[in-house]
Amino acid sequence: MPYYDSCDELDFRIEDLGPLPDFDMLWMADPRDYQISYAINPHMRGPEGNLHQVDRERARSQWLALRRVFEARGLQVEVIPPLDGHPDLVFCANPGLPLPAAASGAGNLWLPSRMASPQRQGEVDHLASFASSRGWTVAPLDGPARCLEGTGDGLWHPRRQLLWGGVGPRTDGAAWEELSRRYGLRVVRLELVDPDFYHLDTCLALLDEKTCLWYPGAFSEDGRELIRRLVAKRIEVDEVEARKGFACNVFASHAFAGEALASDGPAPPAEQRVVVIEEGCARVGEALRQANWRVQEVQTSEFKKSGGSVFCMKLALPHD
Ligand code: ARG
Repeated sequence: MPYYDSCDELDFRIEDLGPLPDFDMLWMADPRDYQISYAINPHMRGPEGNLHQVDRERARSQWLALRRVFEARGLQVEVIPPLDGHPDLVFCANPGLPLPAAASGAGNLWLPSRMASPQRQGEVDHLASFASSRGWTVAPLDGPARCLEGTGDGLWHPRRQLLWGGVGPRTDGAAWEELSRRYGLRVVRLELVDPDFYHLDTCLALLDEKTCLWYPGAFSEDGRELIRRLVAKRIEVDEVEARKGFACNVFASHAFAGEALASDGPAPPAEQRVVVIEEGCARVGEALRQANWRVQEVQTSEFKKSGGSVFCMKLALPHD
């Protein structure tokens, strides 16, 4: 099955794709070693070119508060142990990509990332052993792709067997080509064109089968067209909230009442539909409420200094 770079190539409708389970099991990585000791994206430096300073106490309380929000909503959270010398491990969305059995055709597979920067490469084996201890079969890439950064650039379409694949500074198009060839996956490749939006999860969030949050300026024209064609309801985020507020780096769940819903079941009641988002993104918050989502604000200011927020501080997987 193919990958898609433009609308002319599309040969499916989302509603005809096979189902995927809800991703309502979360892993978060212990923030013990979180700090900023190098810069690998533009957010990590201040205006003078200096590395941002992290308030580690505050970072820890923000991480704990986020975990409590997830748990209070009935989501199970498992904690990945810390790893010496790996301050970015807390962004555990990046070192690997889960290919659930429904999509892989070969059981629950864990695809280790190839990190774009050497500073983060050590996280990959750490996550792969954690995944393996939880029953995931580790299945590395074997093709020529130089880099692939897990669920930073690979976003599963909610409840459908479709992967959205960012192509840019952190993931090569060749990685998506290999996955689509090897596992028969449909992958929509989206080129990222603005260095501030270096991962797909900084500029696109699929909230449910038909709805997304997005910042159009981060994509090439073909990418914008693909999103417009495939996602019926698009909530556009303005530049300030996207670039400074990380308003697209959210977590949306339908299973927040603690009860997983059948993947082909009816739409969940409004009170179960929650978006967890960085505080202060007032315009997006309003748009979400109007679209019938509950909005749960959290503080991730210490993590935004490193270029990440809610979405990338967790890795979401289906239960078994
Ligand atoms: N400092 C980390 C990096 O540059 C932040 C990663 C945030 N993750 C994300 N998916 N946006 O790799």
